[in-house]
Amino acid sequence: MPKYFMPTMLLSGRNCIKRHPRRLIHGKHCMIVTGRNSAVISGALQDVIDVLEENDVKYDIYNSVTSLTGISEIYALGNTMRENGNDFVIGIGGGTTLDVAKASAVYATNVMEPMEIYNEDYPVRPLKVVCVPTTAGTGSDTTQYVMMSLDDIHKRRSFKSNKCFPYATFLDSRYTMTLPIEVTRHTAVDALCHAVESYLNAQASAFSDTVALETIRLIGSCKDALMSGNITEEDREKLLIAASSGGMAVAHTGLNVVHAMGHQLTCEKEIPHGRANGSMLVEFISWMGKHETMRAVEVMTAFDSDLTSFKKFMDKVVPTPETFTEEDIDLFMKNSIVNTVKDNCPGSFTRDDERQIYMNALVNKKRKYTEW
Ligand SMILES: [Fe+2]
Repeated sequence: MPKYFMPTMLLSGRNCIKRHPRRLIHGKHCMIVTGRNSAVISGALQDVIDVLEENDVKYDIYNSVTSLTGISEIYALGNTMRENGNDFVIGIGGGTTLDVAKASAVYATNVMEPMEIYNEDYPVRPLKVVCVPTTAGTGSDTTQYVMMSLDDIHKRRSFKSNKCFPYATFLDSRYTMTLPIEVTRHTAVDALCHAVESYLNAQASAFSDTVALETIRLIGSCKDALMSGNITEEDREKLLIAASSGGMAVAHTGLNVVHAMGHQLTCEKEIPHGRANGSMLVEFISWMGKHETMRAVEVMTAFDSDLTSFKKFMDKVVPTPETFTEEDIDLFMKNSIVNTVKDNCPGSFTRDDERQIYMNALVNKKRKYTEW
């Protein structure tokens, strides 16, 4: 029988932090984890500080997270939190920042070597983590997964534990209003990939399907706004909810080959996560159409599109202007991590399939599709 587990309390809507202070506060001494800018520019940091100060909660701020923040820095942050006596964590930012908050919460309560976090066995429960996303894409605010850069920043590796689900997540779309259009598009496509990879997944169940399809519908209802760049507050709210619900779908099924293949583009060519995954998505759905035709059709129906129109949408919102060669594809294939998600892929996904998808998406830049 299918089962579903998602223990994170979700609070959404305008001013939700100030309306639900008790859901934000889980101790007497907080560590706030942020990146350099978005927490301040969005107004989220000030809202959090206001609530903590009104309730006499001490806090420290670690505001140095960047895309280069690696495991040694996160480990040091966890040790600092233990020395400070921090008893809960609030992460404000995009996926990397939320993941740093989640990983440092593990180190803060468990004395271990940095790489032991990948054993996914923590004798002491991590500190409670509250997430305040300032982008709409990551899904880290509703999953048990954490992705970290190793000290070689070209290597990123994830771990998962049910103890790493955030305790609460605050979804206030005002915090995403200042996002540049490019980031808005990339992160929306990341959320779309999460939902599609969850729906076209051997681990999918009626529960994850319901969440995944609604996520695809929500993002599909914003497709004209994403293409034109004219994104209203209502669109922002839909995209923020879709990002969290995409995370909920993935928390149940795990990801699929789109993220596994996109990972190489990010590691080897520094292409942003959402755009890298997006560049694989049309080809993946096309491939799935041969193996799970009905479900691939359902994905396109939920997005209110067909494969040809979907390709045009993706070319507009996540274009791939880079030139790739067969040597690049050889490199991606050499470092492939597709075998880590192979069990999630319905149909038998072969090395030839992987190469063909890379070639079609990046070298041939195939533009014509046969509908099923
Ligand atoms: Fe992602």
